[in-house]
Amino acid sequence: MTDIGLPGNSENMALFFDTRAISYERHMQEAVEDFSLFYRGITEALPELGNAPRILDLGIGTGLELNHLFERFPGAKVTGIDLSSGMLAELVRKNPPWIGNLRLINDSFLDLDLGRQAYDAVISSMVLHHWTPRIKLEIYRRIHATLLPDGTFVNGDFIVPTDESARRLALFAASQIDERHQLHIDLPLSLDCELQLLTNAGFSAIVAPFRRSHAVILAASKSQRGKHNEPEQFDTPAAHLAP
Ligand SMILES: C[S@@+](CC[C@H](N)C(=O)[O-])C[C@H]1O[C@@H](n2cnc3c(N)ncnc32)[C@H](O)[C@@H]1O
Repeated sequence: MTDIGLPGNSENMALFFDTRAISYERHMQEAVEDFSLFYRGITEALPELGNAPRILDLGIGTGLELNHLFERFPGAKVTGIDLSSGMLAELVRKNPPWIGNLRLINDSFLDLDLGRQAYDAVISSMVLHHWTPRIKLEIYRRIHATLLPDGTFVNGDFIVPTDESARRLALFAASQIDERHQLHIDLPLSLDCELQLLTNAGFSAIVAPFRRSHAVILAASKSQRGKHNEPEQFDTPAAHLAP
């Protein structure tokens, strides 16, 4: 995560990732605390999904989160959306064994119709920390709507303490940049705010199977029952956080 990146140094989102696509995975290995546990954790936060689950990946990038996903769900059908053609080209260049199970869409998930009750799971990794709580709530509501009634949303992303989040949001508000921007601006929220937004979007049985100072994986169920894996199987003691 870079600093907030406001006027003067805020780059176009697609261009930012296009120009970094080739070195992206190396960078993430250094930048993400407990990199392997984090990326494995995205998959392990999912419940049992059957033989050929339909999964939507928002901001699929070079597909880092999919290696473990296809180990666990070899028959998964993944729709991956990404704004950066460079990141998608890098994914295709790597030619992973599961590439035939992907449908790639080079567009913004802010603009696309994600559909209704179309997916068993929605995943997103290191993507959604660029928007204000208002826009994020909109995104979470659309994710909720596109999940099947028993569906699960797994979001692994940066978090910051409440005061740091407030500082960044105040700078952003002062900049008068459109809240639905497509710029590389880092606006990570606090864990409490994330939980509130997920709850307000209609999710329940929210668990955090991976939690470090600057990153968390949150798994949230659409149904009241929830059907997550037992969080104990993860590296860190999981916190049952809400409701
Ligand atoms: C830090 S990368 C994460 C990639 C991958 N999920 C991972 O964990 O390695 C963020 C990705 O989100 C994509 N992205 C950002 N905003 C987007 C938007 N509005 N629509 C689609 N993709 C977006 C970027 O192009 C980039 O590939």
